[in-house]
Amino acid sequence: MPSISLTRHLIEEQRLGHVTPDLRLLLEVVARACKRISVAVGKGALGDVLGEAGGADGSINIQGEAQKKLDVISNEILLEANAWGGHLAACASEEMEHSQQIPDAFPRGNYLLVFDPLDGSSNIDINASVGTIFSVLRCPEGVSAAEDHDFLQAGSTQVAAGYCLYGPSTMLVLTIGHGTHGFTLDREQGSFVLTGPHMRIPEQTREFAINMSNQRHWEAPTQAYVADLLAGKDGPRGQDFNMRWVAAMVGDVHRILTRGGIFIYPWDRKDPAKPGKLRLMYEANPMAMLVEQAGGAASTGRERILDIPPTSLHQRVPVFLGSKEEVETATRYHRQHDTAAA
Ligand code: F6P
Repeated sequence: MPSISLTRHLIEEQRLGHVTPDLRLLLEVVARACKRISVAVGKGALGDVLGEAGGADGSINIQGEAQKKLDVISNEILLEANAWGGHLAACASEEMEHSQQIPDAFPRGNYLLVFDPLDGSSNIDINASVGTIFSVLRCPEGVSAAEDHDFLQAGSTQVAAGYCLYGPSTMLVLTIGHGTHGFTLDREQGSFVLTGPHMRIPEQTREFAINMSNQRHWEAPTQAYVADLLAGKDGPRGQDFNMRWVAAMVGDVHRILTRGGIFIYPWDRKDPAKPGKLRLMYEANPMAMLVEQAGGAASTGRERILDIPPTSLHQRVPVFLGSKEEVETATRYHRQHDTAAA
């Protein structure tokens, strides 16, 4: 059986009418940029790519987080790769306060690309998994020079979403709305090879992922839900649960796509101005699409993530995603709490 490359997979999807030629080429460009990021990440200390950006004092991104050199390098690789292809109207990124139009020197296309160039960047300096997350939206009709507000579309309108995980192997996981498919980078050939067609998340799980150090800041339904997981066999769930935390959403979601689980980054009281840590447009939405396309579910605890009408480019949301029945159980705790409080 010959191996199926990403290029061949996308051409077959185009023949089936699942992807337009422009979107196919755009996804090829994103995949090419991810290969370049994979090379930069893989050099580690030998490539002078570790540590903070901007010298000893460091530099801070729009999220108020310290920027790593590799955050900046990855952002530049994605912007440069996508500038001249003619498929995009504009890009937006975690690392930039505002969206960036495709420069006048190049033709503009009909899609918008939004990305987190290097997710989990606190893992960079410890040589642990990091990744790129991306989402593709249609540029609204009649808009030639897209701006921030043109990106504010619910996740259900995404035409493609994916991530590239830079781990022991580099993997691109992609959906164009017809299942979620995983590709492993063959470093010798330089191409992504289909190794995980139609990934499926088991509906039930005994594994959860949450940063327990924030426990005292959580609201009541999250407290109650996690307490029952921790009570294991002796509690109302009647079974033991295992815990894992990669500290890079790409790593945790990849595990869930591979063997199930629930990933949680809930609302907490640490900073009431921030409803959760994760960003809707370039973290929660693309991951929610990938997870739903693999038979899982993605919720804030109270509503489906893909239904949220965004109000700003860098909006944050609480996230409960993964095995369908477990996400439903977590949302039930919220519903019961809200009903009792009403
Ligand atoms: O900024 C996003 C992120 O790095 C995610 O990739 C990851 O799941 C989370 O933050 C880690 O958060 P914490 O620092 O609380 O472990």
